Amino acid sequence: MKRIAVRGAEWNVFDEGAGEPLLFVHGFPLDHTMWQAQLPAFAPRRRVIAPDLRGFGASESRGETVTMEDFADDLAALLDAMQVQEPVVLCGLSMGGYIAFPFARKHTARLRSLVLCDTRAAADSPEAAANRWKVAEQVLAEGAEVVAPAMLPKLFGKRTVAEQPETVAAMRRVMAATKPAAIAAAQRGMAARSDSTALLPEIRVPTLVVVGAEDAIAPVEEMRSMAAAIPGAEFVVVPGAGHMAPLENPAAFNAALREFLARD
Ligand code: MLT
Repeated sequence: MKRIAVRGAEWNVFDEGAGEPLLFVHGFPLDHTMWQAQLPAFAPRRRVIAPDLRGFGASESRGETVTMEDFADDLAALLDAMQVQEPVVLCGLSMGGYIAFPFARKHTARLRSLVLCDTRAAADSPEAAANRWKVAEQVLAEGAEVVAPAMLPKLFGKRTVAEQPETVAAMRRVMAATKPAAIAAAQRGMAARSDSTALLPEIRVPTLVVVGAEDAIAPVEEMRSMAAAIPGAEFVVVPGAGHMAPLENPAAFNAALREFLARD
């Protein structure tokens, strides 16, 4: 892992391999370890970059609200700091996908292709946004431990819960170790995110849309519609997986990503 200073905070960044850059952007409230089955699989052929986003994992926290635009600008600044000049393949899961949309809009020239995993283009409903504000306050008052019981049941498919208890336990540990200020800032940022549906037909880079068959947060039909709205996008459903498809069924996810990269 590298420590890299970006926009006033020090970041923890996985950076291995050489060649075309592949940037993995994790979900909420996790860190780069959710890509543990992808990092060693793709680093032998590419430069694989997987940061802990601002405030998450071992990266420093700043700001009471961090918008998806802030995260996208952080990523562009990180690529500058790492002297990555070539356009990247950006692979983002859930919140990582919410961040991919402003990245595609604001930093278009930096993007070679997109992999949108278990994510949504729509903004929050007023009720969902209000709930995020409530959770932000609760986490600041009571600590990060309150997050896992609410989130874990929605993250994993049935088979993962039954057969991979260590995978579930590892993500529980990551959540519990996340800084409350970072959780609150990202929750407020997600509550404020704009609807990216209108952007979908404007996406001009090769795009792969991937979803776990049992995703309870970004359902298959919603992601199928997202793929249909992006010109030429490919759509893959990962069997035996929920919202954390790359972690739950890495063999199927990595095969889909490998095939997409080979065509790109
Ligand atoms: C994530 O996995 O990043 C979260 O489910 C995103 C969200 O809370 O909407």
